Amino acid sequence: MERIMVAIDGSPDANRALDAAAKLAESTGAELLILNIGGEISSAEMRRLASADGDLSKRLKQIADDILKQGGKRAKRHGVETIRLQCEWGDPAETIIATAKHEKADVIVVGRRGRGRLSALLLGSVSQKVASLAPCMVMVVP
Ligand SMILES: Nc1ncnc2c1ncn2[C@@H]1O[C@H](COP(=O)(O)OP(=O)(O)O)[C@@H](O)[C@H]1O
Ligand SMILES: [Mg+2]
Repeated sequence: MERIMVAIDGSPDANRALDAAAKLAESTGAELLILNIGGEISSAEMRRLASADGDLSKRLKQIADDILKQGGKRAKRHGVETIRLQCEWGDPAETIIATAKHEKADVIVVGRRGRGRLSALLLGSVSQKVASLAPCMVMVVP
């Protein structure tokens, strides 16, 4: 295994996915690519940001960078040697799949649910779409 990609949205589920991915990377010597698809915030938060001073797109980039920075720190604690942080924009599931193809990931790791825990789905819509359409193995972490 050469490249393990984990998609994180800053949720507790995604943190568990990150821990599992980091352990796998540490034990196989694979590179760990940590990916966040930015811009996914609640409409209340979006309203707040839009009415606040400052550049909305910059603030969204900052939120994504914070999620990735926390993720990088968390992965380091597991002793992973090679960690790469990546931020992309677009539909989360489609962008996760496109990035996995582009980066030739051997496995995509996602959490079962994410930040949008309000819906009644058992599996989040992103994890469901990724598991259905990915070009490689998908690990769904409970
Ligand atoms: N914007 C995102 N960027 C990166 N990964 C994401 C994003 N949204 C979801 N994921 C991944 O998909 C998993 C499941 O989230 P999701 O399907 O969105 O469930 P929910 O509907 O509960 O938010 C997350 O734990 C994370 O691994
Ligand atoms: Mg979600």
